[in-house]
Amino acid sequence: MCGIIGFVGNPGSDQLRRILIGGLERMEYRGYDSAGMAWLEEDGCIRVVKTQGKVADLDRALNGIPVKGCVGIAHTRWATHGPPSDINAHPHTDQPNRMAQIALVHNGIIDNASVLRERLRQEGREFVSETDTEVLAVLIGKFLEHGDDLVTAIQRTHALVKGAYAIVVLLKRGTGQLVAACHGSPLVVGVGEGCTFVASDRLAFVGTAKKTLFLEDDEMVILTADSYDHRTLANQQVERELVELRISLDAIAKGGQKHFMLKEILEQPTVITNTLTGRVIDGPEPRVHLGGLRTKIEIGGRSMTIGDFLQNHLERVVITACGTSWHAGLIGERMLEALLGLPVKVVYASEFITGFTPINNRTLVITISQSGETKDTIEAARKAKRQGAIVWNISNVVGSTLSRVADSGVYLHVGPEIGVASTKAFTAQIVALALFTLKLVELRNPAWVTDTRRQEIANALLALPAQMERVVADAKHARDIAFQFACRSRWLCRCFKYLAQSRTPRSVSWLMRLIGASNALYLGRGYNFHAALEGALKLKEISYVHADGYAAGEMKHGSIALIDKRMPVVVIVPEKGEDEETYARVISNIEEVAARKGRVILIASEGDSNPEELRCGGKVERILWIPKTLAMLTPVLASIHLQLLAYHIAEMRGCPIDQPRNLAKSVTVE
Ligand code: F6R
Repeated sequence: MCGIIGFVGNPGSDQLRRILIGGLERMEYRGYDSAGMAWLEEDGCIRVVKTQGKVADLDRALNGIPVKGCVGIAHTRWATHGPPSDINAHPHTDQPNRMAQIALVHNGIIDNASVLRERLRQEGREFVSETDTEVLAVLIGKFLEHGDDLVTAIQRTHALVKGAYAIVVLLKRGTGQLVAACHGSPLVVGVGEGCTFVASDRLAFVGTAKKTLFLEDDEMVILTADSYDHRTLANQQVERELVELRISLDAIAKGGQKHFMLKEILEQPTVITNTLTGRVIDGPEPRVHLGGLRTKIEIGGRSMTIGDFLQNHLERVVITACGTSWHAGLIGERMLEALLGLPVKVVYASEFITGFTPINNRTLVITISQSGETKDTIEAARKAKRQGAIVWNISNVVGSTLSRVADSGVYLHVGPEIGVASTKAFTAQIVALALFTLKLVELRNPAWVTDTRRQEIANALLALPAQMERVVADAKHARDIAFQFACRSRWLCRCFKYLAQSRTPRSVSWLMRLIGASNALYLGRGYNFHAALEGALKLKEISYVHADGYAAGEMKHGSIALIDKRMPVVVIVPEKGEDEETYARVISNIEEVAARKGRVILIASEGDSNPEELRCGGKVERILWIPKTLAMLTPVLASIHLQLLAYHIAEMRGCPIDQPRNLAKSVTVE
């Protein structure tokens, strides 16, 4: 939520604008309702340009304005306090226009902003925006007026505010310096040749900065072009090593695709290999290698590794996450319960924070987060640790806040996920949970899991990249089916245009027949129930079509009332061979939908499934096939079809796929 960046260097003419706009573009996934920039003009005064709209609108607003200078800050916003508007956009200043002593960008929420604002108003200070951020700017300005230097003014402000923030502050007539500080919101420093950065995300300076370091809570940094002074907000010097920034420019480009989301869906077969590499050691007795298990922890005054803890002390698992990562958690719950017989509970992180989940020092809390920066999940991890649990984190972003808060964990290594809708991280999270489960089986050796079963799971994991490749190769089928959902009369023109471009005339007749879907149901049993939840979420968030995911057997208890000839129902069918009973039950559910004229689309496994039986006497409209795998891994393959379906529907409806309305990728507020 909100992306902030600060830069100090000696860029050539007009380079400051390019650097800051480029950084904002790469952080636009964090918010995109308004954007702004501030820099020092030649006379030492602060110039601010800001606008409602996207980063591209800010770039246009800067046309004709010479942005020259060595130091600047910028912001892309996801509104919390005050609606998106030019005035509410950041940077904010302590005083209007050229009177400003400072300009400031902020990510986070100041909980006591209204109390502080009132107090400052009574002192005669004026506010122009509705934001909590302006309170920070005015407070810092007030301390500067009282004779403090900028660092002290920030420290005194920190002592007064409650809430979360990461800020970068630009000082009038400052001597090529920026000061940044954080408390509860992420901030990362980048160091390049003759320049330094600070930003909400390292992506902002990939390609320019070579080294990086994350700030911890209650730390600050004073940047000049060739140095950084790193201290706590209590003025203690911090010595933390810079680490190499290993993200390539290619990894953050669209790779020739129209949207990041499509690129990220299609690259899943390749990147999932990174999640698996070196972690499954094949052989007659397959072993799982997870380096994080060697981390030392203290339990009741005794030192042990996390591996020892899992083997000898673990009694209960709690999984906590948000959104798509929570869906992965549900799949993990099923794996752990089925293979280990361990009691597992999955809790939304936002509920975990405020609710009561029994936890002690024999509980493992697994946090799952693509970004590792989701505020609710971070707070859940902190609470779990306070209650004595061991926290194992699954995230994609190396060095993220969650990975630092947790005791240990595993990275997904699927590369930056930039599309707001999570895709490749979801399938990798399932794989990471399967690896973890298999490792626990190895450590705890439950009597009911034979060596053959362990071997089967390891083989199924290793087969996934090639199988995912086959599903991706089938991508055009999802696009065909998308017409069923997407085409309502007011979108007909767009759909026809799309059809003409995609050269699939066969679909025209479908289009005519199936106009009108504005709701959808996703059904599945067992592991596929959770895949259904995720399929529905994908559709909702990027196409704005209302969709619900249900346990297929639960449908008859209510949602069946919704089914009529206009309702598309996507059913994820389990493979027949592994669990014939569940398969038969799902076939009955399909019949129930078809009997009410629902428009059934299936995702089914090749292998033992009988296509004729699946078509239910021709009542099923389309089947999307996935290669045969174990039930626990079916969601990995089925999700690719579900993601593509959502993508194509959104594309036909003309939705802004990588930046859906009201959403932001990294939810850094509670
Ligand atoms: C949905 C989506 C969100 C995230 C959720 C948690 O496509 O992306 O539901 O899954 O905001 O984000 P992370 O995984 O970064 O904690």
